[in-house]
Amino acid sequence: MDLDVAAKTTLLKTIPHGLFICGVAEADVVNGFTASWVTQGSFKPPLVVAGVRSDSTSHGMIQRTGCFSLNVMEVGQQELVAKFFRPQAAVGGRLAEVPYRLGPLGLPLLENCLGGLECQLVGHVAAGDHTVFVGEVKTAVLHREGEALTLSHTRWTYGG
Ligand SMILES: Cc1cc2nc3c(=O)[nH]c(=O)nc-3n(C[C@H](O)[C@H](O)[C@H](O)COP(=O)(O)O)c2cc1C
Repeated sequence: MDLDVAAKTTLLKTIPHGLFICGVAEADVVNGFTASWVTQGSFKPPLVVAGVRSDSTSHGMIQRTGCFSLNVMEVGQQELVAKFFRPQAAVGGRLAEVPYRLGPLGLPLLENCLGGLECQLVGHVAAGDHTVFVGEVKTAVLHREGEALTLSHTRWTYGG
């Protein structure tokens, strides 16, 4: 059976995505990166699912520590989100410019966003160039209500 690659790409690009800063921490090293492949996976317990590039720095940190945070970004914060997918001089360099605190699980929670979740890993699927991590939401902080930034607010693409 031949895959129609063009159809596959067009159709996968129609999947709506939010834009998040995923935070990770290992010993005294913190890091954050732009994540869009994120969705809810269960009500009880509250699970979220995140696809993370296997060759990224954060991937290894999630694997080793078993946790990650998700910061929900607001419309208008595109510039800030862009900082988190650009290369950085050293791990954690992106967060050096952005106010954050460490949550109860020790994960970076940005001060200037709609809110953040800390998640503990309950499973993963490593079958491609991204690993699908499943995390249980353990802490949540709501800074303010607002319209969340999504991929459709930008000209960026990630998917297909
Ligand atoms: C719009 C956009 C969405 C992205 N979404 C994801 C994603 O869902 N998962 C992922 O692993 N990388 C995603 N990336 C790429 C990472 O942000 C990028 O590889 C980052 O440099 C990884 O950082 P790290 O190596 O410090 O962990 C996205 C990039 C862009 C431009």
